Amino acid sequence: MWDARTPFLAGEVAICGQAPLSMFASVLLPLAVAAEGSAGAGATCRRPETEAACAGAPGGAVKACKHHMPVRLRRLMRRKPWHKRAFLDLAELLQRRLRQHRSDNKSNKWRREAAAACKRHLEIAEARKRKMPHLTERTLRVDLAKHLLCVIEQQTPAEIAATYVTSLFDHYADCFDASLESLSYQVPQLLVQAIRWSQEEPCHLRRILDLGAGTGNMGEQLRDLSPRAHLQAVDLSAQMLQKAEAKSCYDELHCSDLAEHLMASERSGLLFDLITAADVFGYVTDLSAIFRLVFQNLESGGLFVFSTEEPTQPEEPEDPEEPEPDVSLGYKLQASGRVAHSHSYILSLVHDCKFQVLRDTRCELRFEDGHPVLGRVFSLTKSPSAQRQCPSQHEGRAG
Ligand SMILES: C[S@@+](CC[C@H](N)C(=O)[O-])C[C@H]1O[C@@H](n2cnc3c(N)ncnc32)[C@H](O)[C@@H]1O
Repeated sequence: MWDARTPFLAGEVAICGQAPLSMFASVLLPLAVAAEGSAGAGATCRRPETEAACAGAPGGAVKACKHHMPVRLRRLMRRKPWHKRAFLDLAELLQRRLRQHRSDNKSNKWRREAAAACKRHLEIAEARKRKMPHLTERTLRVDLAKHLLCVIEQQTPAEIAATYVTSLFDHYADCFDASLESLSYQVPQLLVQAIRWSQEEPCHLRRILDLGAGTGNMGEQLRDLSPRAHLQAVDLSAQMLQKAEAKSCYDELHCSDLAEHLMASERSGLLFDLITAADVFGYVTDLSAIFRLVFQNLESGGLFVFSTEEPTQPEEPEDPEEPEPDVSLGYKLQASGRVAHSHSYILSLVHDCKFQVLRDTRCELRFEDGHPVLGRVFSLTKSPSAQRQCPSQHEGRAG
């Protein structure tokens, strides 16, 4: 494995026992070149002067380092143009370079190469799927490649594929908690602060729903906060939920999509007095349906407490050939692979759904690349005076 300190997607993942790695890289590992019996990634290059020097070394004598791995991948791709992994590996490596050297003058060249490699991976995966229809996303990595392509091309997809979220987090469940620790992950604690601030006696909460519960980090905090409450968890990733189950903090665990679960809950007629979402909306683009459903599932006076990530400013040199990143939607897929939502977008949803803002704070959610990831923690209430039905999607929202 190559040395990388930049977790790519969730920003909180490490290969067990290793430095935090890119989500994509970790999904793809072991790298295609390593699998070919070539150099192991992450090894120290003893001839760092040029990529060619490293790549040209006799197999094993000098190992490809993080700088020179693309050379090996490119060689492999030329030798085996139908390789199952090399193209996506290269795309991910180049995207990581783009992210770490945002103002490098080579960035447009890397971006084009990464996009082409991603597209080639998709062609290969689709051909494999036609031949072997039983192959799954975990093997083919089609949704992963599509997501990466959006990141590379700075496009925000209409939605994030559920199969992508599932395979990503299933893959990481085992080392998720250790990785979060290494990134000073703060979100559950920040949400608890917001709940304590908004609710005088949180120990009297009766029914709580934790959206995107993951391995139960939020659940543990909620259990301490409100020992007698009935605590429900929902998450798409069965492996993450297994970890949560082992912590015994939830009374019920549901493996489902957030919106589907909220719809089923609404039909049951059992309302919640608190709904939380800790670091989950980075995997959801348009939040309007979720907000509507949360509103419908809350008791009068109930709380909705969640975090969002702040959009970062693009720093790359301008290239007239590159499409402009679209920020008009109010949310944007970031170079990290997560979705950030603008403050005004969240406030427009608050307004449309007749929520009231109790608390809205800007904070550091975690660290990434040695820098804090900035975001917001909101505490909203369905005030007793807002008993009207939340307007339907077709009534539109401001901004
Ligand atoms: C970064 S983790 C956060 C986990 C937990 N809340 C915490 O603070 O540790 C995001 C979680 O959201 C889940 N998730 C993302 N999108 C989802 C969706 N549409 N439906 C259900 N779960 C989702 C993922 O599976 C993952 O477990």
